[in-house]
Amino acid sequence: MAHSIARATLGLTQPNKIDPPKISFAAKDADLVEWKGDLLAVGVTEKDLVRDDNSKFKNLLLQKLDSKLQGLLSEASAEEEFTGKTGQSTVLRLPGLGAKRVGLIGLGSGASATSTYRSLGEATAAAAKSARSTSVAITLASPEGIPAELKLTTASAIASGAVLGTFDDIRFKSEPKQATLKSVDIIGLGTGPEIEKKLKYAGDVCSGVILGKQLVNAPANVLTPGVLAGEAEKIASEYSDVLSAKILNLEQCIELKMGSYLGVAAASNNPPHFIHLCYKPPNGEVKNKLALVGKGLTFDSGGYNIKTGPGCSIELMKVDMGGAAAVLGAAKALGQIKPAGVEVDIFLSGGMCWPASLYEQGSYQGMRPGDIITASNGKTIEVNNTDAEGRLTLADALVYACNQGVEKIVDLATLTGACVVALGPSIAGVFTPSDELAKEVVGASEAGGEKLWRMPLEESYWESMKSGVADMVNTGGRQGGSITAALFLKQFVDEKVQWMHIDMAGPVYSDKKKGATGFGISTLVEWVLKNSS
Ligand code: BES
Ligand code: MN
Ligand code: ZN
Repeated sequence: MAHSIARATLGLTQPNKIDPPKISFAAKDADLVEWKGDLLAVGVTEKDLVRDDNSKFKNLLLQKLDSKLQGLLSEASAEEEFTGKTGQSTVLRLPGLGAKRVGLIGLGSGASATSTYRSLGEATAAAAKSARSTSVAITLASPEGIPAELKLTTASAIASGAVLGTFDDIRFKSEPKQATLKSVDIIGLGTGPEIEKKLKYAGDVCSGVILGKQLVNAPANVLTPGVLAGEAEKIASEYSDVLSAKILNLEQCIELKMGSYLGVAAASNNPPHFIHLCYKPPNGEVKNKLALVGKGLTFDSGGYNIKTGPGCSIELMKVDMGGAAAVLGAAKALGQIKPAGVEVDIFLSGGMCWPASLYEQGSYQGMRPGDIITASNGKTIEVNNTDAEGRLTLADALVYACNQGVEKIVDLATLTGACVVALGPSIAGVFTPSDELAKEVVGASEAGGEKLWRMPLEESYWESMKSGVADMVNTGGRQGGSITAALFLKQFVDEKVQWMHIDMAGPVYSDKKKGATGFGISTLVEWVLKNSS
């Protein structure tokens, strides 16, 4: 019954037609002041805004724009106390230029990080949105400050920012407002085949990020476990030359003795779907075998230990498949990029949505606190808190991944509130015994423009995870909660396999933007490419 009502609400979903703006590159034109279009956005560092004794800009481009505008740019930016700090921006509608509007976008100290330039693209897209602009140009006040070898990545970061900033999830609006931005000219950072190749890569990653955002934004009455599995199958068939999908149903999970995963699934009216995608390169030998594992709870109510009280964020718990969305978004990007020499097994430890039946106590089949369950590697778990369910689903997924003969595993999960307390909303915690893997993935995250911070796997904290009756409990105390969660996962990983856990409970969602971030996808794709040949 509940199901048919939920299904009916699917009718609310708008088709998601996405037309990203067209990006082109142009050489630095002496006549930037003549560029014709709706908005000319200039990325400026704090240093670019230094003025001479007559309060005139020292920076040549700003000087030129200002003189064409008879000093209005200088005046207006001083009035608005625009100093070029990161996140600051000012858009002015001034006559005298080829462009209708000119925007100054702060880059802070200008340290050349991918995230800085992605933000420049995003801020420009936001300005274009509020001015309903269709064409923008983006340039830097001092492109000469960018080392030649970083020009490509700078340009593609700006392009990604513009594409992602233009995307609006309007599927659930009754009167959707389409994005107006159609074209973006990136000026002064180079032209030619190399940059076009980089742009193609950025576009492929962005399409994965957009899919990831849509999956996380979709509420649990729309994105049911079956729908999530269907999305995975769709991606596999779209890129069937390199991707294949295998969905394990309830019986198959029972066959594999996935008692830990099934313990969580038992509480839901929706049957579980354990999703396995496999990426194989189009031709040639495989040098590296990797696995990506994502937590895929389409809704986390907490179960018997139901989430109650202010701050428990139960209304946000549709995001609990953020890890699964990240690995699926990465799969979509890899399906287009088709890297050579690397095989990637991708597991979504989902989807499950639990428990709709909590209130039908008579028929309640889910775990109770105190229940003991057995994972597929034979280890037993006393469930002292049903709300620590993510680690239970991941346990069997990690065992399964290790059995596929992979060399390295990265798992992503919205695993603990404790990690959000430790690192806040924009940084994910990473846990791994391998310094080598830490270096690889953290390096990939810098290139991908995402923030990761390595946390300790403090073995002495395992003490709090000991059970009197089973091999372990599933939660320790409040202290060090993200660390004990990671130590729990470690029990299910083969020691011969290099493994990393990423707790992305903080960055999966942005309160400020009221939406999903697509976190993890650009890092995962960069990491897989590092392992390709
Ligand atoms: N899905 C939650 C973690 C979470 C918190 C995700 C905030 C996104 C935002 C997870 O399943 C959970 O409930 N964790 C518990 C663990 C506790 C019972 C040891 C938590 O963090 O409170
Ligand atoms: Mn939970
Ligand atoms: Zn959860």
